[in-house]
Amino acid sequence: MKLLLAKSAGFCFGVSRAVNLARESAAAGKDCVMLGPVIHNAHVVEDLKGRGVGLAFSPEELPDGKTVVIRSHGEARRVYEYLEKRGLSYIDSTCPNVSRIHRLVAEAEAAGRRPLIVGNPLHPEIVAVAGWCDNPLIVENPEEIARWLAEAEENRDTPLTVVCQTTCTAEQWNSCVDFIKKECTNLQIFDTICSTTYRRQSEAAALASECDAMVIIGDGKSSNTRRLAEICRARCGRVFLIEDASMLPLSALAGASVVGITAGASTPAWIIKEVCDKMSDEINVNEESFAELLEKSF
Ligand code: F3S
Repeated sequence: MKLLLAKSAGFCFGVSRAVNLARESAAAGKDCVMLGPVIHNAHVVEDLKGRGVGLAFSPEELPDGKTVVIRSHGEARRVYEYLEKRGLSYIDSTCPNVSRIHRLVAEAEAAGRRPLIVGNPLHPEIVAVAGWCDNPLIVENPEEIARWLAEAEENRDTPLTVVCQTTCTAEQWNSCVDFIKKECTNLQIFDTICSTTYRRQSEAAALASECDAMVIIGDGKSSNTRRLAEICRARCGRVFLIEDASMLPLSALAGASVVGITAGASTPAWIIKEVCDKMSDEINVNEESFAELLEKSF
């Protein structure tokens, strides 16, 4: 069996930055607590807890006197105001690409435009982005835009500033933008898909097309990991989403001759390595391809 590992598998710079900020603060002796998991990966969150970083699920749960770690997905403006009001210090690990979207929607609204956000309204990144403006319109597809347009004739002429979730697929974004360009008259469009997401998704698509099976490593709660699985399923008949090496479907993979591996932006390198090691131990992996893989990735 030949293993092919995507070059882009694993931590992106925003996730590395967030995890390092939390680790460094704990190492510096700060009494820290994450406001929500700092990234969507249960192993990393457990590791941080082991280093003394606590976890709270809402601002109201935050104990006094702690240093709050704001997670990579960002938080709404009201959360910063709340922390300041309570006098809680914080470390902001919001990915800079996400902070840029906060600025875009806030500035758009201040300029009299309505932010239109393409993304999952329940995802923490989008909940936070929506929290930087008063009246956002959040859609996941062109049909939802069409429904909003049908509500009132003047909606077509609303000045709209269009942004999207950093982990949107190019297909989702393009279908919304193509539709809205045909229907609306006053548009400002910012493609805010993260460039590492683009790279990771196109690499996964290319790998899936040349492999008999694909293994996607990441937390089931991670939106970008689930997107990778969707993209691969459209191109490859055998796609397995696993959180770590213990979930490897060894018997299902045994008959494949080329297996592709990729991982979400919040999957640490050590988990990817464990998966590769287990495959190498348990399946007859081509030694040359495996040596190459370890050399370039870890
Ligand atoms: Fe940031 Fe892109 Fe990663 S938005 S958290 S660098 S996937």
